[in-house]
Amino acid sequence: MALTHEQKVTLDKLVSLCKRRGFVYQSAEIYGGINGVYDFGHLGTLLKRNLRSTWLSSLSEVPGEIILFEGALLGPYALWKASGHVDHFADQMVECRDCKHRFRIDEIDLEKACPHCGKKNWSEVRQFNMMFQTQIGAVQDQKSIAYLRPETAQEIFVNFKNVITTNRLKLPFGIAQIGKAFRNEITPKQFLFRMREFEQMELEWFCKEENAKKHFEFWKDNRFNFYLSIGIKKENLRLRYHEPTELAHYSTCCTDVEYHFPFGWKELEGIAHRGNYDLSQHIKHSGKDLSIYDEETKKSIVPTVIECSVGVDRLFLTVLFDAYDEDTIEGESRVVLKLSPKLAPIKAAFFPLTKKQNEPMYKIYEAIKNKGFIVQFDESGSIGKRYRRNDEIGTPYCFTYDFESDSDKKVTARDRDTTKQERIAIDQIELFLEKKLI
Ligand code: GAP
Repeated sequence: MALTHEQKVTLDKLVSLCKRRGFVYQSAEIYGGINGVYDFGHLGTLLKRNLRSTWLSSLSEVPGEIILFEGALLGPYALWKASGHVDHFADQMVECRDCKHRFRIDEIDLEKACPHCGKKNWSEVRQFNMMFQTQIGAVQDQKSIAYLRPETAQEIFVNFKNVITTNRLKLPFGIAQIGKAFRNEITPKQFLFRMREFEQMELEWFCKEENAKKHFEFWKDNRFNFYLSIGIKKENLRLRYHEPTELAHYSTCCTDVEYHFPFGWKELEGIAHRGNYDLSQHIKHSGKDLSIYDEETKKSIVPTVIECSVGVDRLFLTVLFDAYDEDTIEGESRVVLKLSPKLAPIKAAFFPLTKKQNEPMYKIYEAIKNKGFIVQFDESGSIGKRYRRNDEIGTPYCFTYDFESDSDKKVTARDRDTTKQERIAIDQIELFLEKKLI
């Protein structure tokens, strides 16, 4: 009986593929690494770049203005106190008094023994703040405390006045940011799912409170459709509305786009109605005006925020899970990443059939590369082996220069998903790729 997608793709298989093919490495592995911190190799860097650019271009398609922003990673104590993170950005934690292992309260049954050492000697439940604290300058006091940002959103709020003044914006509008965030997760796990250093893509959409519900609905649908547009299977996606008890300290309502990971349905993106909580907090704590003048009512208002927030790394893991497949081609089993061509790190590979065809094929490869396509030239091993190597990294097309190519001026183009082959004219390769890679 054929295996289901869920049976084929496991976290272990994906971790091993990512390392084997240079997508992701444990950071500082030669020194033992840090849990929840990863480095990205060539293919991983390219895939991340494609995820960021598809996210950005999806935003450029919506009605209304969205401008870009890039905030600092370090923020002063006052900022994070005002935002509520110093007091509330905490997980509940217990420690096993025997083996000193720590667990988040939601992942452990305190009636049972410690899963690590088998003894039952739990500490009391404690609040554990997840921000990484550091010290700025040589003098150590309250004023020198700074934090690595646990979300990218706050610098957008504290810069609100600067941004609206320099861009002459009118409600509704958005400010979008892509950047690193840091959380001292008690138990980082499931590879790129829960990390200590990760990247977020956040859109803060500012609107009037009376229109907020309409905007929230728009963004919920828009973001769900974005995932379909990058090829994620509909049956693996769903929207889940938060119960009031689950809401973050700033949020009045929230819907998650969830993905069906091999370890269950989990949040991929959060769409949150943040009210005007953040701007109001920063107005209160800084004493500065962060309102916007509304031409319609001739009044200054503190706008409501709808936030769409997704982790680049979590999305990376999602697209790999979704694209992973194993099948058998001409009696030979293969691993294939059926990534959307938009996301594939390498768009095409160029093979000379034998060494004799190296020179003409290299020229074709170079010409396509010079047009701006990310492509590779692969001359080692049998053609079958070269196909398998490229299937495994999700390369949508492979071209082979063979014995007939000199005379008919054509190469064989092979499709990754169907494995079908067709002869195409050498001078049509660029057009072929342009059409197929949309
Ligand atoms: N500004 C809102 C905010 O940060 P969040 O639900 O805590 O909300 C938003 O995070 C998104 O960031 C999540 O949906 C997830 O995709 C990603 N994310 C959060 N924590 C993460 C972690 N520890 N590792 C990887 N991605 C994470």
